[in-house]
Amino acid sequence: MSLQAAAGLLTCPLCRGLLELGPTTARCPAGHSFDVARQGYLNLLAGPQPRNADSATMLQARSRVLGGLYVDVVALVARTVAATGARAVVDAGAGTGQYLAAVLDALPDAVGIASDVSVAASRRAAAAHPRLASITADTWRGLPLRDGAVDALTCIFAPRNMSDFSRLLAPGGRLVVVTPEPGHLRTLRASYGLLDLDRDKDLRLEQSLDGLFEPVTSERLTRTVDASADQVADVIAMGPNAFHGAPVTGAGRVEIDVTCRTYRRLGPDSESADDLPHREGHEDERGPSVDAVPPDLAEASPGRGHHGRQEQPPGR
Ligand SMILES: C[S@@+](CC[C@H](N)C(=O)[O-])C[C@H]1O[C@@H](n2cnc3c(N)ncnc32)[C@H](O)[C@@H]1O
Ligand SMILES: [Zn+2]
Repeated sequence: MSLQAAAGLLTCPLCRGLLELGPTTARCPAGHSFDVARQGYLNLLAGPQPRNADSATMLQARSRVLGGLYVDVVALVARTVAATGARAVVDAGAGTGQYLAAVLDALPDAVGIASDVSVAASRRAAAAHPRLASITADTWRGLPLRDGAVDALTCIFAPRNMSDFSRLLAPGGRLVVVTPEPGHLRTLRASYGLLDLDRDKDLRLEQSLDGLFEPVTSERLTRTVDASADQVADVIAMGPNAFHGAPVTGAGRVEIDVTCRTYRRLGPDSESADDLPHREGHEDERGPSVDAVPPDLAEASPGRGHHGRQEQPPGR
């Protein structure tokens, strides 16, 4: 747990001044101050969290899934971000912080910022890794981080605010997005009447890139795994269906079908060169490949937006 990982990067959600981090508070030059929570995260929502923010129970279920059924998805994200050689990484809609922790394990010199609108998520993420700073913030309001603060930004089954992501990334920085494919959790969705995936998601993602990002890599992971009744219950409980009451579950097949895409931030100073500090490993132009992995029931629904180009809410 180290908020200091975000020192010099955080801004005031009220006036956008740079926040100075002390041991118990963060303060901007205009005098706005925010208490560091006992658990080590910093709440920069400047208001109550939305009622649909992920709960502690959902986070517990998600944590078990990421450590089990989804372990290959976590590895895929870590490998993908490590290939960028990033030194500062933000995970928007980070949930438990496990993805970012795996990324930081793969990048020994990097620091990470886990951002989520859920206080329960921020609390968990604060304990996820010693080089990880955890903040509570609303992606749709624009993250309270200075322009060009990070050189990689991950968004995994979470709301995407593309214009703000572009603002946050340094020239040439990489956006890494994980989305579910139509086959993702197909059997579970049919068996338990779960919320359907947003079928226009890929189209919306492509449209939202226009002029801000260009595609660099894409890797698809598919697999079918046998899950115990408890694992099935966890997959249901960790997602938006948790808001609709948990069904009685039995053991069953779980299809994992997700794509992890990397995009380069476009801009006047990033068009000509691949200007990230590459170290071991490198990005290559991977075509779609079929391998493995576990996904999510559905992505979080985008809500309202304040910051230029954003994706439209899914039609479900
Ligand atoms: C489906 S979960 C994915 C969590 C994590 N990325 C993972 O894959 O394990 C979506 C996450 O987005 C967060 N979220 C939803 N709306 C958000 C918003 N407006 N701003 C920031 N986070 C949000 C939720 O609290 C939740 O943790
Ligand atoms: Zn301020």
